[in-house]
Amino acid sequence: MTIRLAGILIGLGITAVLVLWSLIPGAYNYAFGPPAEKPAYYVFKEKPVAPEGGFSFDGPLGKWDYAQLQRGYAVYKQVCSACHGLKYVAFRNLEELGYTEAQVRAEAATWNVPGIDPNTGEATTRPGEPTDYFPNPYPNDVAAAAANNNAIPPDLSLMTKARKDGTNYVYSLLNGYVDPDPEKLAKAQENGFETPPGLYFNPWFSNVNLAMPPQLYPDLITYDDGTEATVPQMSADIAAFLTWTAEPSLVQRKQTGWFVIAFLIFATGLAFLSYKQIWAGKKAKKK
Ligand code: HEC
Repeated sequence: MTIRLAGILIGLGITAVLVLWSLIPGAYNYAFGPPAEKPAYYVFKEKPVAPEGGFSFDGPLGKWDYAQLQRGYAVYKQVCSACHGLKYVAFRNLEELGYTEAQVRAEAATWNVPGIDPNTGEATTRPGEPTDYFPNPYPNDVAAAAANNNAIPPDLSLMTKARKDGTNYVYSLLNGYVDPDPEKLAKAQENGFETPPGLYFNPWFSNVNLAMPPQLYPDLITYDDGTEATVPQMSADIAAFLTWTAEPSLVQRKQTGWFVIAFLIFATGLAFLSYKQIWAGKKAKKK
């Protein structure tokens, strides 16, 4: 009995020593050591910002702005689709942006998707159908990297979910090719910062040197609805469109939330009334 107790105590003692051994130097360093060193590019890093006025789908009562989603689709089609796929979105999903079935069919046919030649069985391309998914611009990652200075353009379907504050991030990134602040640049260069050839400075990207060249220029595309295609406008439109591709049910989810809250309040009322009913005659009488 005593031996067993002694064994447990010794074991606990050794564990305690080991735990303290591993904790104390770290705690000491944290309290008294030099501050952790940040990489040189850190001085440039910016948090995502929202476009002026925010997005129509922000907040609990948010709604899609269908005209904006359609403009965002135009930006994707005319600019981004040269390098980025959208593999989780099918052409038929475009009906949710307010296009009719016939429009979607016509739109799908303007895209070339991978197909098979019925006579020879060889790989070829054919016009898209509503049930097809958006095609990847490159046949494989090797081709994608070879065409883009060794960086693979990621699929954009879920991009706004994959980055923190994703909608504002996409907006800020596309709108964010600026010249580095000269003061910060001088300081960072002392610490070995540079933007190597073939990369582009963008303070919103994780290490501020991005392999994607600036994509948007004023009046790059002509919007069907006559909206002026400024860089912030196109950036906001594509950010909204990519928010929809990542979560098409976003607005519905918010509306369902309101319905659920209303129902829960109603059910709470019912529960209270039935409680009253069941215990009506059974309360102890006050004397
Ligand atoms: C010429 C090809 C090309 C075009 C066109 C292009 N991109 Fe890119 N994009 C890239 C490459 C390459 C990368 C990878 C960059 C890297 O990892 O440094 C990238 C990365 C991205 C990223 C991810 C950044 C991150 O945080 O990892 C987003 C978002 C993006 N592009 C959005 C867009 C949008 C929106 C458009 C259309 C307006 C667009 N791109 C057009 C080549 C392109």
